[in-house]
Amino acid sequence: MPQPPPDPRAAAGTALPHLWLPYTQMRGLAPPLRAARTAGAHIVLEDGRRLVDAVSSWWTACHGHAHPYIVEAMIRQLRDMPHVMFGGLVHAPAERLAARLADLLPGTLRHAFFSDSGSVAVEVAMKMAVQFWINHGERGRTEFVAFRYGYHGDTMAAMSVTDPEEGMHRLFQGYLPEQAMAELPRDGAGQEALRAKLRERQGRVAAVIVEPLVQCAGGMKMHDPSVLRAIANAAREAGVLLVVDEIATGFGRTGSMFAIEQAGICPDILCLGKALTGGAVSLAATVATDEVFTAFLDADESAALMHGPTYMANPLACAAANASLDLFEREPRLEQVAAIERHLAAALLPLGDVAGVVDVRIKGAVGAIEVAELHSLDRLKAAFVDAGVWLRPFGNVIYTMPPFTLTDPELAAITDAMIRIVPVWADGAL
Ligand SMILES: Cc1ncc(COP(=O)(O)O)c(C=O)c1O
Repeated sequence: MPQPPPDPRAAAGTALPHLWLPYTQMRGLAPPLRAARTAGAHIVLEDGRRLVDAVSSWWTACHGHAHPYIVEAMIRQLRDMPHVMFGGLVHAPAERLAARLADLLPGTLRHAFFSDSGSVAVEVAMKMAVQFWINHGERGRTEFVAFRYGYHGDTMAAMSVTDPEEGMHRLFQGYLPEQAMAELPRDGAGQEALRAKLRERQGRVAAVIVEPLVQCAGGMKMHDPSVLRAIANAAREAGVLLVVDEIATGFGRTGSMFAIEQAGICPDILCLGKALTGGAVSLAATVATDEVFTAFLDADESAALMHGPTYMANPLACAAANASLDLFEREPRLEQVAAIERHLAAALLPLGDVAGVVDVRIKGAVGAIEVAELHSLDRLKAAFVDAGVWLRPFGNVIYTMPPFTLTDPELAAITDAMIRIVPVWADGAL
């Protein structure tokens, strides 16, 4: 096709003529940092600087970057079969991974539908929930109850269950399906409000969807396991499904392999992603209980789940995920998370007394500091880079979610930089 002449406005004011970056105003974009390699807890830049990755590259690299064991497993798989379609064919890496997830997860969560990103895993969960009811002869159950500060992804259905006020999807209000937003039930009154919301919508709600223990992208808001239990009880009482989104919290981040373990609950549908492959490559899973799965078993073809991403259950990604699970079995990851939690608490909780800091929250290998006023994020990020730390705050929340394998000095480099930089930034003096 003949190329139209370039619009000079498109090239003006952006340092990247051909790339479109996430969540970024491209106009006037300053040249971004350029990553050349990753190793262990570090991102190595093209200019040779080494930054400790304080956010595990969007919370994926739980064993550190480019873990040799995962890389070797992927190389072996790459030689045999980098990819094969999953429609009509299955393969050992996916079968093994699904069986291992079934062993790790509680109750009858043992039917894994693989996809290629967290947002798609949420789309699949929502589709499963709606079709569960259709297959049971109930067509009107298309609504979801979701929570303030929740975030479930950037695709349209996932956006609809993300907090429209606080989340980044307010622009699309009016286009997205309207869902019922609720406050987390933090006390008796909250529990009653949630029950009332479910009663008002009787026969219309397909499922309640929640991020367990830490609402991550919504600002690292944390809640007690009892809150999660209250949500599970309310969903049960109302006779609706419970979808738990463990895409960010799964695989050790909150101190247990899955956050649901701390509440002793078993949802009907569970979403996994991010650290599933140890940060090597994208893979996600939507795992359903026997009860959900059997609702799709029928002589009628149309009762089947009509979904199938081209690269679903990619063998290379499944090999990486199996290797990551081997590492969880062989190495003391949860002990490492507990040690990180102790360090974060000792180092960061005192920042709660600093002027301009409104809250410090710690859970497992998550440490978040919320400040009252939003100041320049560019200067904040630059100050951390100067300190040798890669960190990406959300507005007024500065947080770390480091790899579990980082060394004590690497962890101290992150928290020392936070202790030094946050007070100056919170004061507006950076
Ligand atoms: C809880 C949660 N759900 C879903 C998603 C979307 O995952 P992905 O970015 O892989 O589409 C995210 C991403 O941050 C998340 O934190």
